[in-house]
Amino acid sequence: MIRTHTCGELNSKLIGKKVTLQGWTDTVRDHGPITFIDLRDRYGSTQVVIDHKKSTELHEVGKQVRKEFVLQIEGTVKKRPAGTEKKALATGEIELDADSVKILTKALPIPIDLTARTETNEDLMLKYRYLALRNPDLQKKIIFRHKLVKLVRDFYDEEGFLEIETPILAKSTPEGARDYLVPSRVHPGNFYALPQSPQLFKQLLMIGGMDKYFQIARCFRDEDLRADRQPEFTQIDVEMSFVNEEDVMTVNEKLIQRVFKEMMGVEVKLPLQRMQWDEAIERFGIDRPDTRFGLELKDVTSILSKGEFNAFKSVVEGGGIIKAINVIGKAEYSRKDLNELENFVKIYRAHGLAYLKFVNGKFDGSIAKYFSEDLLGKLKVAMNVKENDLLVIVADKAKIVNDSLGFLRVHLAKKLDLIKPNTFNLLWVKDFPMFKVDEEDGSITFEHHPFTSPRIEHLDFMEKEPLKVKALAYDLILNGTELGGGSVRIYNPELQSRVFKMIGLSDEEANKKFGFFLEAFRYGAPPHGGLAFGLDRLVMILSGADSLREVIAFPKNKAAVSLMDDSPSEVSAKQLKELSIDLALPKEEEKK
Ligand code: AMO
Repeated sequence: MIRTHTCGELNSKLIGKKVTLQGWTDTVRDHGPITFIDLRDRYGSTQVVIDHKKSTELHEVGKQVRKEFVLQIEGTVKKRPAGTEKKALATGEIELDADSVKILTKALPIPIDLTARTETNEDLMLKYRYLALRNPDLQKKIIFRHKLVKLVRDFYDEEGFLEIETPILAKSTPEGARDYLVPSRVHPGNFYALPQSPQLFKQLLMIGGMDKYFQIARCFRDEDLRADRQPEFTQIDVEMSFVNEEDVMTVNEKLIQRVFKEMMGVEVKLPLQRMQWDEAIERFGIDRPDTRFGLELKDVTSILSKGEFNAFKSVVEGGGIIKAINVIGKAEYSRKDLNELENFVKIYRAHGLAYLKFVNGKFDGSIAKYFSEDLLGKLKVAMNVKENDLLVIVADKAKIVNDSLGFLRVHLAKKLDLIKPNTFNLLWVKDFPMFKVDEEDGSITFEHHPFTSPRIEHLDFMEKEPLKVKALAYDLILNGTELGGGSVRIYNPELQSRVFKMIGLSDEEANKKFGFFLEAFRYGAPPHGGLAFGLDRLVMILSGADSLREVIAFPKNKAAVSLMDDSPSEVSAKQLKELSIDLALPKEEEKK
């Protein structure tokens, strides 16, 4: 290599040495006969002094150099003049006195702010992603990701797992999102689906006797995007044979412990807490509870349905519930604050947000008059109310109450600054329901995926009371984000067929969709289970990023578009013809 050192490597031990650096011009400061340059690469930056008096070549080049030019500089390492050292910088004690400067490539003026910590003009940053990647903050996150992936591979290798690749062009996997489809040229009218996860293949690997599998697996899901969702993302995907749910959780929480210790210097105590899904919903409203702060939900149906407040009474008569949160010490909240909270719960379909303030030893608020002293006394005890506390209350169908107060709880914690920085709360949520009601058509559908085993002791009432059946499924939650999830699988073909029937899939339809998979179970399938962690999410939280886009080298934007290479894009008529595809595009006004 021509360079003798990187731009982050030179220090006072090398003073007097002749070296060659290559890198980008981070800054140029023109001080008349002297030009100062900070030369930057992935490893750091070094101050270079171009003294124009030394030679006409140096003078010429010193005048030409601009930001982001790529240079090759030979020179001597010198101590910086006293008082100009930069302690915070690894190379802060020295500078490079240039003997020769070669411009390797010039650069146009850079269209984005490379030093921006936050993505000011996000579209532009994504269009010029290869430039944004020069930002040391972004590089740090990508390097962090690399190290984490290496640790993951080493960990599973030590535990006896094999990394095995599974197909990208495959059959659709039911993970609850839409598939990305790839048309087949040689089989007109037939499509591959990009895997939403390697679920089917990893189970087939167990039937194939591979015993312990893992993969850093790329997954593709066509779903509504959020800060913690990308259309293509990466899972740490795991499957194990001859295991129960505890076995799966135990080995995989060891990985998380190792990740925290080696990547963050944080000791995580094992075993992690295991919380029943029912308890999570009861206390936190949502199945990915953030346990870093209080503000827990309490069911006060038995108290508040008894007063004279008709809105509450009719909700409860209609099968609904009433829950409240004690926002400690916030009786001072104004009408405007309360309106803002009410608007927030409306996003989750709540009709409204009732409130009661406890001031001067009694409850105050427009609904207080509907409740007797006795009921209010009971409410005070149930909610552990003290002077100046504020109760916020939602009465509605259970799902709406839990969702709206569950998310309000997180919103309030942020608003009230209740979350201590650098705290990491990890827990498993387990015993998820096996089925849920599809919000669109009211039918019964699966909660995790249809290969998840129900609790065997619940099989007796599966057909009669499906919503009461719990699954051998578990999610790992970190600070209120679902980091991963998995389950013990069904390995008995008759039970699999019963579960398919529950979700409205006849044997015939199931065979059409997963015939190859179901057949495999007839040749001796071991009991097995596994899980998948969202790698991008793990890196995002641990590296302190706000969005998955900060931890993926080339991400898509919120509309699933890659602004850099402009995909998805139209293809030629010839390509469409080869694929036997006729386009029937929506009219402009029909497009969403
Ligand atoms: P699941 O669908 O829960 O399970 O996905 C596992 C984890 O993957 C991450 N994740 C995502 N990350 C970024 N963008 C997305 N669009 C996205 N969707 C999911 C989450 C999630 O917890 N096959 C099962 C696992 C199993 O049963 O073994 C599965 O894929 O962190």
